Amino acid sequence: MRESGALLVSLILQVCAGQQQEFKFPDNIQALLGSCVEIPCSRTSSPTDAQNIKVVWHVKPAPLGERIIYSTDVSQISQNYRKRAELVRLTTKDCNLRIHYVERQDQRSYYPQERKVSFLKSVSKYVQLEVTERPPDPVLYIPGEVTLGETTTIECMANYTCASSPPTFNWNIIGPHATEKNDLGDGKWKATSKLAYKPSEAKKDIIIVCTVTYFGGKVATAIDKVTIQAGQNAVDQKAGETANQYIGPVIGVICVILLLAIVFILWRTLEN
Ligand SMILES: *[C@@H]1O[C@H](CO)[C@@H](O)[C@H](O)[C@H]1NC(C)=O
Repeated sequence: MRESGALLVSLILQVCAGQQQEFKFPDNIQALLGSCVEIPCSRTSSPTDAQNIKVVWHVKPAPLGERIIYSTDVSQISQNYRKRAELVRLTTKDCNLRIHYVERQDQRSYYPQERKVSFLKSVSKYVQLEVTERPPDPVLYIPGEVTLGETTTIECMANYTCASSPPTFNWNIIGPHATEKNDLGDGKWKATSKLAYKPSEAKKDIIIVCTVTYFGGKVATAIDKVTIQAGQNAVDQKAGETANQYIGPVIGVICVILLLAIVFILWRTLEN
């Protein structure tokens, strides 16, 4: 009687312990079909503990098929996820799961667990993967007016969910550009390409195209049209040019007058 009581207590303890949040990860995340996705995950236990803990990622059981999608014991991994799922560990607390070449049937619920775990441990939280066919439309930002001879920073922004493989940007206009990355939390990231544009021709409509290529090859574009304004700089430049036009002839006239003066003085001295 006492033994079964103790057993009951230990069962209850195990089940309740399973309710605790040992892993921190988002409730859901979007993944682009054919691309990659990284589900952020961290252990809430101390780093020294975490170091020795082997993490296994499971898929919420379906009637047939996969159960384990990532484990250090490769033989445990379901065929479909072998070589596609990997753990991205930047620190010992990390248990980030990366899935390559996202497939339609990856749209399921997943959860991490310690490798050695009682089968009684209940699972109370999952991350739902939502597979999207198309990448989100990038956003092009052109501040105010674009003026001849002046540098304007034009931005192109795109969201992504595969932290270590951000999308790449291509522009149809020329100028030095660089990409910044921002962590929006819960596995969402934003990449921003900033291009310093200095137009060389005024009163001209130009089409600006920013092309975003996601890991795996999916492409999305943002297009906008701007009219290049002739700014104050341009007017000054024009004024400068007109002044230059007159300098040549003016110097020529002065030279002729000087020459005539010298000839006149020489002629007068010779005559005397
Ligand atoms: C990126 O995601 C954030 C938050 O979900 C959203 O506010 C923003 O508009 C998105 N930006 C782009 C360029 O899709």
